[in-house]
Amino acid sequence: MSPAARRRPFGVVTRGTTNPNRLRRVDNWIVATCADRLLAADDPLVVDLGYGATPVTAVELRARLAAGVRPDVRLVGLEIDAARVAAAAPAADPPGLTFARGGFELAGLRPVLVRAFNVLRQYDESEVAEAWQTMTAALAPGGVLVEGTCDELGRLASWLLIDADGPRTLTLAAKLTTLGSPAELAERLPKALIHRNVPGEPVHALIRALDDAWQAAAPYATFGPRQRWLHAVTRLRETGWPILDNPTRWRQGELTLPWPLP
Ligand SMILES: C[S@@+](CC[C@H](N)C(=O)[O-])C[C@H]1O[C@@H](n2cnc3c(N)ncnc32)[C@H](O)[C@@H]1O
Repeated sequence: MSPAARRRPFGVVTRGTTNPNRLRRVDNWIVATCADRLLAADDPLVVDLGYGATPVTAVELRARLAAGVRPDVRLVGLEIDAARVAAAAPAADPPGLTFARGGFELAGLRPVLVRAFNVLRQYDESEVAEAWQTMTAALAPGGVLVEGTCDELGRLASWLLIDADGPRTLTLAAKLTTLGSPAELAERLPKALIHRNVPGEPVHALIRALDDAWQAAAPYATFGPRQRWLHAVTRLRETGWPILDNPTRWRQGELTLPWPLP
């Protein structure tokens, strides 16, 4: 589609379901792993795309970035639904936090980082590539898109870090005290992967291997679910999966791998 045709917000209004603190796992990961990009930026602009029926998760992301990365971070919450933009207005706190109407074209903004959570889940899988391409084309140079999915309370989540060249990493994250088995994460994969959890696909092999490692680490459950997860991740790494980051992140119930998976 030509840029002229893109003047209107690109996308469709979908369900606005959200919840306070639902996105804490991805927010904490962004603070820990994307801080350098924001610190290096002349204009530390972040977009929260598709914040939903209330702007609570946008308010939280701005607060976490201001406290954990830099106080002058500027967050713009973009929504394709004009009524949700109007409803968010009382929560604005300019210049650090504002709300506007926009879609995948990012309303002419050039952010360093975009978080788009639980947005593409309601689109067709065939629409994902164009949405990614449209968002990454609008980023500031070196900018990134964090696109993912979680459950209602944010106990299970997964996301892709995507730049102008496509996806770079996949992260799976779970609240360990309520996790029965890592296989539960399969239900909360990003839209691009949810239908790929079938034999023969790398993401299926990953979730199976993680589940096997979790079962093998069962004896460590007596020391708590964190210890069990740490041992499961270590085992996964020993079997050849290229796990990124370090035990500080793993202890949070996270697992990040380079994309594409081997
Ligand atoms: C399920 S809510 C997600 C709310 C919040 N991000 C969360 O994870 O809790 C999805 C929201 O994305 C909005 N949305 C869908 N497509 C969009 C697009 N292309 N641009 C901006 N917002 C969009 C919908 O209108 C809806 O309010």
